[in-house]
Amino acid sequence: MTLWGGVFSHETDDAVRLLNDSLRFDWRLYDVDISGSIAWARALAAAGVLTTAERDTLIAGLERVRAEFARGAFTPAPSDEDIHTAVERRLREIVGEVAGKLHTGRSRNDQVATDVLLWLLEAVPKLRAQLVELAAALAEQSERSADVLLPGYTHFQPAQPLALAHWWLGHFWPLTRDVARLEAFVEAWRAKCPLGAGALAGTPYAVDRAELAETLGFSAPTPNSLDAVADRDHVAEFLFAATLIGVHLSKLAEDLIVFANPALGFVRLDERYSTGSSLMPQKRNPDPLELARGKAGRLLGHLAGFLATLKGLPSGYNKDLQEDKEPLFDAYDTLSALLPPLTGLVRTVQFDAERTRAALNEAMLATDLADYLVGKGVPFRQAHGLAGRIVRLAEERGVPLSALTLADYRSVSDAFEEDVRAVFDFAEAVQRRKAFGGTGDVANQAQQARAWLAAHGHPSS
Ligand code: ARG
Repeated sequence: MTLWGGVFSHETDDAVRLLNDSLRFDWRLYDVDISGSIAWARALAAAGVLTTAERDTLIAGLERVRAEFARGAFTPAPSDEDIHTAVERRLREIVGEVAGKLHTGRSRNDQVATDVLLWLLEAVPKLRAQLVELAAALAEQSERSADVLLPGYTHFQPAQPLALAHWWLGHFWPLTRDVARLEAFVEAWRAKCPLGAGALAGTPYAVDRAELAETLGFSAPTPNSLDAVADRDHVAEFLFAATLIGVHLSKLAEDLIVFANPALGFVRLDERYSTGSSLMPQKRNPDPLELARGKAGRLLGHLAGFLATLKGLPSGYNKDLQEDKEPLFDAYDTLSALLPPLTGLVRTVQFDAERTRAALNEAMLATDLADYLVGKGVPFRQAHGLAGRIVRLAEERGVPLSALTLADYRSVSDAFEEDVRAVFDFAEAVQRRKAFGGTGDVANQAQQARAWLAAHGHPSS
């Protein structure tokens, strides 16, 4: 039995029903849907629409339906169009005709808006916790990389030496911004309970919406019923947050994929986090990292697709909005399946400090050479050109910068003196960049990372 048969004299076409029905994906709203219904039954009773006995019968019945879902004992009927229909149908089988009073003054429009928001308010903190775990793993790796040097790249060309700890933390801070975005999400949407908005115009019963909102863990009801039933900004915002998380993870993954290539050989993935080839016996493939890189595309697709769905909709509820759930659930499932293995991979990946050190070349100290000249009073723009000529001279001779003689240096500029030798020390080059946030300031940065983790329930051991 549908919830809306009265005016119709023909059954819905089977193919239309297949298109229309959403239970196959919205069943997972059952818990929040039932919580919403229980809160609504209480609000109706407080408004004098239900007797206390009716309310209690409905609540007990709803709890039985919830328990059936929870233990996998719920059996869908062909008429179960969506989760709301399914719960009400089963409730009627359990408590009888009084079930028909539950939907008084309510619409599936405010009901589903509330369900999706409640679901998000539970899901987002779980994702946040997984992100904090990954951030902690990155910070721990950073703590373990003291004194290891790594070539830093721009345009993926060798640029300047970095402390490995600094590279690790370079992937830590983006996640802290993701965590902050998720926290702000919960903070903002907790204040917008749609229940009681009705189909679009509000409810004619004397429901105390502020109290109703509070029963459901919200801090306030939505101020406009028409907006409340059509608003899916929370879905779009979540998809954006999820996409940006995906983007951050893809960049971490890409760095590690490149570092794992034997030509660089900077890292070795733990065997539990890499896979082999069915054909080539020598392969150690970074499949989990490639999936991390690839999933970002899927997340971005969900965001772009759903924004396109929202664009240009007329006000009020439109069935297009049912398209919110599959991308939303898939985005959540994608990230929650990705974050734990990625965290494990990060915890176990091993850097080869000799390989990263060997990949440094003295041309990466050309900026330091220019800065040396600045120390001798040469304006930086001019010093840059002189250092470039030194690099070229060394290239032409096929030798490292330090192999040129002082006479060679002085042939380019007589500002060079014997102390130029001190420039050719990679560790020193890192140390010199000790202004706040630089690679030479990484100990201070690690301190900030520890403080962030402690403030997010993850004190370092
Ligand atoms: N399954 C629907 C959805 O997800 C519930 C709301 C249906 N409302 C309606 N008037 N058809 O959006």
